[in-house]
Amino acid sequence: MDKIILTGDRPTGRLHVGHYVGSLRRRVELQESGEFSKIFIMIADAQALTDNFENPEKIRQNIIEVALDYLSCGLNPEKSNLLIQSMIPELTELTFFYSNLVTVSRLQRNPTVKNEIQQRNFEASIPVGFFTYPISQAADITAFKATTVPVGEDQLPMIEQAREIVRKFNSVYGETLVEPEAFLPESEACLRLPGTDGRQKMSKSLGNCIYLADTEADVKKKIMSMYTDPQHLQISDPGHIEGNCVFTYLDAFSRPEHFEEYLPEYRNLDELKEHYQRGGLGDVKIKKFLNQVLQEELAPIRARRAEYEKDIPAVYEILRKGSETAREEAAKTMAEVKRAMRINYFEDAELIRAQSRKYEGLKD
Ligand code: TRP
Repeated sequence: MDKIILTGDRPTGRLHVGHYVGSLRRRVELQESGEFSKIFIMIADAQALTDNFENPEKIRQNIIEVALDYLSCGLNPEKSNLLIQSMIPELTELTFFYSNLVTVSRLQRNPTVKNEIQQRNFEASIPVGFFTYPISQAADITAFKATTVPVGEDQLPMIEQAREIVRKFNSVYGETLVEPEAFLPESEACLRLPGTDGRQKMSKSLGNCIYLADTEADVKKKIMSMYTDPQHLQISDPGHIEGNCVFTYLDAFSRPEHFEEYLPEYRNLDELKEHYQRGGLGDVKIKKFLNQVLQEELAPIRARRAEYEKDIPAVYEILRKGSETAREEAAKTMAEVKRAMRINYFEDAELIRAQSRKYEGLKD
């Protein structure tokens, strides 16, 4: 069976280094592996509207930001289709038919939706579109017959629900859809990169993000004021690694080559951690090192972004082409779904013949 990737992001802001280690970096690796026959990367504007319906301009403005972030990370439009969700009407059509296969109580149990309802103070009145977005996400994935969905951990309940919908559909209407699998980041640090203030998650509203598009000076400033170990007051004090952002970021970004180049007195991260825990290693030194590591990773991304920024119409053209190709794929699946669901009336000559025979027999 062909291996096909689909994944995406809501265009509610620029992407940050949490997105990068959590999924973007992996997508580029998978793209370059040559293992996948098709790759679809979706800017999920319709999903973003489910909780930003009163603010469409925000979504509109951020489409290009996300597209630039994708391209600057190395997603290559020759190899990956970059598309805009709302340009594929088949996705809404599938969502409508799939919603017959899902119960309200099942949606209520989805842990990601539960969390989001709390965060948005939707408890008293939940918009139906928001409540049912897991069904629409199942449509996103299955419309392209995706086998592989590279996402962060918070998306696992979505993939699980998509798999259930596929199984239900196939058992009711016959084998049609493909059951997808999630593909998670490689390490704990990449799974949940904390904000620069040490809080659980990077989030725009908390102001604790390092963005892919940040300047070199901004990145440095954010790193130098990063949360470390509040008990590590003097250099000679023993320090803690757990919950210390600098080390979590080093877990996600540093490689042995970085030590050779910037900190040759340590062979690897374990040796650096050990010294910090023993005492005698200051925060400024580890922050400077993290800055060197991160700047090395972000510099080519920034440079590629600057190139694409010079020709914005070309970026929209990439999205238009990617959406067109994606639509052709989704239309094929849609036709199969309609056939399976017995709602393909006009293309079924046998149905029309059988109905004529029935009424012929009734005449005179
Ligand atoms: N829910 C994802 C997010 O919040 C975005 C998304 C929409 C998605 N459709 C998808 C992710 C399909 C993976 C597959 O970022």
